[in-house]
Amino acid sequence: MQRSDQKRMKITGMGVYVPEKILTNADLEKMVETSDEWIVSRTGVRERHIARPDQATSDLGVEAARAALTDAGLGIEAIDLILVATNTPDTIFPSTACWIQSGLKAGTIPAFDISAGCTGFIYGLIIAEGLIRSGTAGRVLLVAPEMLTKVTNWEDRATCVLFGDAAGAAVLEETSDGSGMLSHCWKADGNLADLLSMPAGGTRIPTTQKTVEEKLHYLQMKGNDVFKHAVKRMGEAALESLKKAGLKKEDVTWLIPHQANIRIIEATGERLHIPKEKVFVNIHKYGNVSVATIPLAIHELKQGGKLKKGDILLLDAFGAGFTWAAIAYRW
Ligand code: UT7
Repeated sequence: MQRSDQKRMKITGMGVYVPEKILTNADLEKMVETSDEWIVSRTGVRERHIARPDQATSDLGVEAARAALTDAGLGIEAIDLILVATNTPDTIFPSTACWIQSGLKAGTIPAFDISAGCTGFIYGLIIAEGLIRSGTAGRVLLVAPEMLTKVTNWEDRATCVLFGDAAGAAVLEETSDGSGMLSHCWKADGNLADLLSMPAGGTRIPTTQKTVEEKLHYLQMKGNDVFKHAVKRMGEAALESLKKAGLKKEDVTWLIPHQANIRIIEATGERLHIPKEKVFVNIHKYGNVSVATIPLAIHELKQGGKLKKGDILLLDAFGAGFTWAAIAYRW
């Protein structure tokens, strides 16, 4: 069902943080048996940013959150709730949201994490929308920081070439100006949990010397299977959210897909018959930064003056879980 014009949730501030250090494909050629040619042709990634050893995920999130608040022209006291989407928490508990809440000197504002794989930012928007429209929260700060390079096995060429670190954040509030979130589709299939996971370190396989020796505390992925499910599910979610919003493919100004692999991005665009020039791509600069890909994309379009009032954005992501979701949004 499409949201009424009177009550929608809108993004009123966007911020990002990207660590300074860049790791290029040429650097990776010296670390594992790979080549710039393979990485670019199979994934689209040319370089990625890597956090400093002394930085935790929350440090990236605090920087992005501050930038989003500045963009919205607000101080932290104007926020009612901090939501954090991440797969790489500072600690299993407390939540990364609480670390960020402390870092922002946010008093006693409630804060909690969302664990939804790379789909976390879209899940976060959907949760925030429900809370805002029900009156539970007036303004929500949604933060999406990720530091997968600290759970990457740097000897596994099938995964270490893919990921980077970054954070995005958005200030969200109610609007009646006709813009904002129009519809959503969100799904999960826990039967596909083994496709992409960090097996050890939780209660299922607690950390022991053996799990460390077997490298089970690193991200593991069945890349081919993830690829197939991703293309199918992103296509389905995008179509469902367009339908719910009463929109057609031709109405879309920008398809903003999760940046996991250029071939997944292009296949999704083709499946939806959305022309290439309307499909946002920046994977070459950052690699897969998981929950941060969608906010980084929105921020880049906004900063580049490429978003006009009334433009229709189709946000579309998938990730570990398996989770997938899409949102139709009027800028
Ligand atoms: O946010 C969600 C996270 N994950 C994803 O979105 C990942 C989705 N999957 C993918 O992006 C792709 O499956 C990968 C990029 C991970 C792999 O690409 P692929 O085309 O599916 O390659 P593959 O796994 O089928 O491997 C093809 C070959 C293999 O060699 P053989 O067995 O054919 O001799 C691999 O060993 O490529 C080899 N290979 C590499 N070669 C050079 C795998 N990684 C590398 C590498 N450099 N980095």
